[in-house]
Amino acid sequence: MSADSSPTASKTSADRVRIFDTTLRDGEQSPGASMNLGEKLEFARALAGLGVDVIEAGFPIASVGDFESVRAIAAEITGSTVCGLARCNDRDIDRAWEAVQYAQSPRIHVFLATSPIHREHKLRMSREQVVERAVAGVRRAVGLCKDVEFSPEDAGRTEPEFLREVIQAVIEAGATTVNIPDTVGYLMPAQYGAMIADLVKNVPNIGKAVISTHCHDDLGLAVANTLAGVAAGARQMECTINGIGERAGNAALEELVMAIKTHREYFGVDTGIKTERLYPVSRMLSSITGLTVQRNKAIVGRNAFAHESGIHQDGMLKNRSTYEIMRPEDVGVPQTDLVLGKHSGRHALRDRIVEMGYTLNDEQVEAVFKDFKALADKKKEVYDEDLAVLVERHLGEGDVPASWQLLSLHTTAGTSVLPTATVSIRRPDGEVVQDAAIGDGPVDAIFKAVERVTGVHANLHEFVVRSVSQGKDAQGEVTLELEVESDETSFRGRAASTDIIEASALAYVNAVNAIAARKERGQTREVAGRPGAGL
Ligand code: KIV
Ligand code: ZN
Repeated sequence: MSADSSPTASKTSADRVRIFDTTLRDGEQSPGASMNLGEKLEFARALAGLGVDVIEAGFPIASVGDFESVRAIAAEITGSTVCGLARCNDRDIDRAWEAVQYAQSPRIHVFLATSPIHREHKLRMSREQVVERAVAGVRRAVGLCKDVEFSPEDAGRTEPEFLREVIQAVIEAGATTVNIPDTVGYLMPAQYGAMIADLVKNVPNIGKAVISTHCHDDLGLAVANTLAGVAAGARQMECTINGIGERAGNAALEELVMAIKTHREYFGVDTGIKTERLYPVSRMLSSITGLTVQRNKAIVGRNAFAHESGIHQDGMLKNRSTYEIMRPEDVGVPQTDLVLGKHSGRHALRDRIVEMGYTLNDEQVEAVFKDFKALADKKKEVYDEDLAVLVERHLGEGDVPASWQLLSLHTTAGTSVLPTATVSIRRPDGEVVQDAAIGDGPVDAIFKAVERVTGVHANLHEFVVRSVSQGKDAQGEVTLELEVESDETSFRGRAASTDIIEASALAYVNAVNAIAARKERGQTREVAGRPGAGL
């Protein structure tokens, strides 16, 4: 693309486009991506280190857990604005403010659906009522916080003239950012760009607010649509690390940032992102959530910078620019995979942890060091991925008390024996109980034995084993999801070990502990309070 065809060809200095990261809110809504408080806090620190302008930390009204994590992030993070989501009602907005009020730079984000489909079938409200409610919500938020964002949910399927009317009204009411969500990922890039251009051209007070994009990836177009929005004048991009989010996800932050950087002349904008932190932050999210990215994922996939074919390799050796539009070091891909071994000391371990983007305190480093030594005794080479699993083990400590503790395990399995498992478990009251069970295989037998001891009956929804790093001696990580019949919420358990049978048992006990903790706190997620459900 020549600079002449750029939408901003006449500009000389670049504008700034803000990065609004919603991994902890929209991203966390994706199945299997839920995080505990310690994990959210650590990830928020990594986002601030990456240089994101706004961190949407959660939806405070949704649950006590969401509220607490938004509040903790707001209290600690500096350098990035911390934002809480709210529907257009006083209770939501007041709760969001309660959570973000002590942030160095707080923001309240209110949303209300505007499309005819949502107005008729979900809200049962007329156009007039929607405008009235949106304005009332923004006014309430403005009375509490000077930085207020408004989102007309499902803007992508809203009548253009009504969208203009709503946007004009909320800006008049004090909204400082107007976000334009393609909630269901319906639009084509040219359509999304035209929608933003229409607002720039036809909303008289549009200059008083920043226009933001928020695109979902149902047709695989979230990044393309977002970029079309920026080309048309949007100056905030809402996105998530690795593109995680509802259904097919949101626009991937790393792809947007590198597209803007690679085509700076074309877009005429810059981000404030430290691009060399992209890869470590992507890895951290995968490690925290267990949601790994596919090998060929742009920017952060394992193969993103690998050149296999002879012709490509030959070209690369002659001149890297033949087949490379970005350098791996620009996005922080480490030059070597191998990190530590048996003889590595505390300093080497701490340095590596910091390079990976974690901010552990001394006590946590000491605990990781102990685990590292034990692991290095079992496997010769400890890779970043192995280390991430060890770090992860100590991030959310205290969030889910280890009420039930697996002390020992014995299994018998084979082609001609009945699979059996014997477990020894410490109960929450300290008593040690032993029991045994038979099952379809050793893992099934363990789960049944744990069920007998703990009395927690749950359905196993998902069971995934993956190799954490490389080689026959690699750690196996087990991620599983349990659902208790009386409670629609699912509970995640995750553990790693060089023995996958042990990892399965530990993951199961972790999930049982999560169920016990939830019962103890009497805390259930307000499913009806998630975006997409009513007012
Ligand atoms: O997709 C969407 O419409 C949202 C809003 C709450 C901004 O996530
Ligand atoms: Zn969304």
